[in-house]
Amino acid sequence: MLRQRPSIPADLPAPTGRLVDSRGRPVKDLRISVTDRCNFRCVYCMPKAVFDKDYAFLPRESLLSFEEITRLARLFAAHGVTKIRLTGGEPLLRRNLERLVAQLAAIPGMEVTLTTNGVLLPRKAAALKAAGLARVTVSLDSLDDATFRAMNDMDVPVADVLAGIDAATAAGLGPIKINMVVKRGMNDHEIVPLARHFRGSGHILRFIEFMDVGSSNGWRLDDVVPSAEVVRRIGAHFPLEPVDPNYTGEVAERWRYADGGGEIGVISSVTQAFCSTCTRARLSTEGRLYTCLFAQSGHDLRALLREPRSDAELSAAIGAVWQARDDRYSEIRTAATAGLRKIEMSYIGG
Ligand code: GTP
Ligand code: 5AD
Ligand code: SF4
Ligand code: SF4
Repeated sequence: MLRQRPSIPADLPAPTGRLVDSRGRPVKDLRISVTDRCNFRCVYCMPKAVFDKDYAFLPRESLLSFEEITRLARLFAAHGVTKIRLTGGEPLLRRNLERLVAQLAAIPGMEVTLTTNGVLLPRKAAALKAAGLARVTVSLDSLDDATFRAMNDMDVPVADVLAGIDAATAAGLGPIKINMVVKRGMNDHEIVPLARHFRGSGHILRFIEFMDVGSSNGWRLDDVVPSAEVVRRIGAHFPLEPVDPNYTGEVAERWRYADGGGEIGVISSVTQAFCSTCTRARLSTEGRLYTCLFAQSGHDLRALLREPRSDAELSAAIGAVWQARDDRYSEIRTAATAGLRKIEMSYIGG
């Protein structure tokens, strides 16, 4: 069957007024998963026991094309989105990603960013920058090679990620945000060494509480290192001071080294939920719209794209989903909700 490939509309439908959800939250950020595949098998995200050779990754025809993604992004922009983050899986595994970046960066007023494990940055950073990518966030869970290899579970050496960070810096994609997911007993001994390493580098290291995303990472509350403990442990070596947020609804809480060595961030989705200011929509690899990272189901925009429907109809569908949005998972998390069957983060986008 021939695949419908709608062209990018020249004229956007006029915004229909300020779009807010049922809790008064506007839509400002769109996180787009461009592939559900990854070259890592991080224990907290795609554990090998589940994501093995028999795992049913999406077939190519299921994925939204770059043209389809761009068409949706323009409609989201008309609803108030000003920031797009490309995620996955590992977004740099999607061939010619820089072409998509160029199309998205051409949307007036749009900032395009990317979250990656960094390994492909030496090959890709210059092209991404040239295409209009604003900045990158790189995941890095340990500087100790044995710990890092155990966490990515694909025996990837930490030097590969550090080379990626250097390449992105050289390409002008800095300052870079570096995300460390902290899992107690696994890499919490690396909190202070990572802080020491990136102090004074100009990059911003962020510590993320291990979350119960998806249904396969065996999450237990005991494995979470609360951000307050992270700040205390770093502060014992390098005194820290709180910093005001850059904008309302910023995910990371900011701290700076009292001696001027730069800043760090902590992301406390378990111990201090930030749902009340959550302005993020997520578009899955196959074009489902999710209104929460912890959602159990999404809304099929690909079906509408391929029927095909007009821009006005698509825009109205997006608006209706957002208006009905009621999510606040992290605020109501319990041992029981943690066991619910949720969408995997590699599919929905991190
Ligand atoms: P910038 O402010 O543009 O740098 O983006 P950000 O702070 O949202 O950074 P990033 O996208 O790298 O998010 C960092 C991490 O925070 C993600 O990888 C998730 O682990 C977590 N996170 C981001 N958004 C949400 C969210 O909506 N809910 C929850 N619970 N966690 C989130
Ligand atoms: N808990 C917290 N953060 C996670 N990420 C992936 N899985 C989890 C989890 N269970 C983060 C990674 C990366 C981004 C893609 O999502 O660290 O920065
Ligand atoms: Fe891949 Fe990122 Fe998930 Fe690790 S956290 S398995 S690098 S998508
Ligand atoms: Fe937003 Fe859902 Fe995360 Fe709360 S749990 S901050 S509503 S994505």
